[in-house]
Amino acid sequence: MISPCAAPLPRAWAEINLPAFERNIGKIKATLPPHIRYISVVKADAYGHGVAHIVERLLQCGIDHFAVANAREGADVRYIAPMAEIAILGPTLPEEIPQALADRLTVAVSDEHEIRALADFSRRQNCRARINLAIDTGMGRMGVWHENAEKIFSVLAEAPELDWRGVFTHFSSADSSREYTELQRSRFLAAVEKIPPELRERLTIHADNSAGLETFSRERPFNAVRVGILQYGWQPAPGTLFEKISPEPVLSFKTRVGLIKNLPAGTPVSYNRTFTLEKKSKIAVLTAGYGDGIPTAASNRAEVLIGGRRVPVIGRVTMDQTLVDASALPEISVGDAATIIGESGSSCISIEEFCSRGDSIPWEALVSITKRVPRIYCGLRR
Ligand SMILES: Cc1ncc(COP(=O)(O)O)c(C=O)c1O
Repeated sequence: MISPCAAPLPRAWAEINLPAFERNIGKIKATLPPHIRYISVVKADAYGHGVAHIVERLLQCGIDHFAVANAREGADVRYIAPMAEIAILGPTLPEEIPQALADRLTVAVSDEHEIRALADFSRRQNCRARINLAIDTGMGRMGVWHENAEKIFSVLAEAPELDWRGVFTHFSSADSSREYTELQRSRFLAAVEKIPPELRERLTIHADNSAGLETFSRERPFNAVRVGILQYGWQPAPGTLFEKISPEPVLSFKTRVGLIKNLPAGTPVSYNRTFTLEKKSKIAVLTAGYGDGIPTAASNRAEVLIGGRRVPVIGRVTMDQTLVDASALPEISVGDAATIIGESGSSCISIEEFCSRGDSIPWEALVSITKRVPRIYCGLRR
């Protein structure tokens, strides 16, 4: 089975479909009013898709605002996108500040102490630190608690050393509770309302992650959204908007058959003998395991596709190899591709299925495909 993207095939690989990614971006953007900025979330190596090619394609799509988890990731994006706006979503450690500011990253701040430290640093270095204020509306993670935000606005208003660029909050349950999301949204709006209008007008104001878009308020003051998983092709919750967008999966995860052997009935397979063959069986040893991103929770539960047909994973997934029962496949050969996530012939293993059989969530499953798995890009523009 030859991949459309590359030959020779590695032992395991992730195919990244850049045209599908671009179509997803186009479809998401088409649902947003023109004044809404698209902030593309590219943290964790662009959700495992490879930040260099993903950011390059986003720039080609006209997107020049990115969100990353930390200063290190921001530096990587800055290298690829010298002119872009790059926001750090997580806390920045004091020792990371000088480099973050040298890289012109926008640092997220949550309290007065951080603001004063950044203002002092800016004065000493004769620079103007770029900052976004995070407001905690019920996630309990980043941000000043929404009821205490007004005081921080005054501190910021009196800090000309700082370049205050935006204000944001993060929803904890946009994929599971409209009610709680609405509560968080209303707390955020009430807090933002207290920013003096002349300052507020200059700010990028956002709350919505992918799931939030389903209840996104197209009214001001919101003027940006932060989109992660949806652009990579996974619909985070049921919803009419998501059905309309109908995102295409961007990543497929594949491996190969490394060995085929026949074993007698009664043979236990893999570590700790969690599976015993009931009858004489043909076993295929796949050349990927948890060291590549197949979770051990998938042991005795997941299926893979070989030649378009489903075969079950048997026994415990090991670090470098996974066993499947290939007795139903007369034509199987060493070297064949096995699809862990994605399509093969007319069959498909969706990321939802992979996650349900591996006790995972799509965000986690995508970023758990390890760095020894090469990413192979389809549709690269030379
Ligand atoms: C602060 C913040 N904003 C936006 C996102 C993007 O979320 P999603 O991938 O669900 O769109 C994340 C993802 O973890 C996040 O932490």
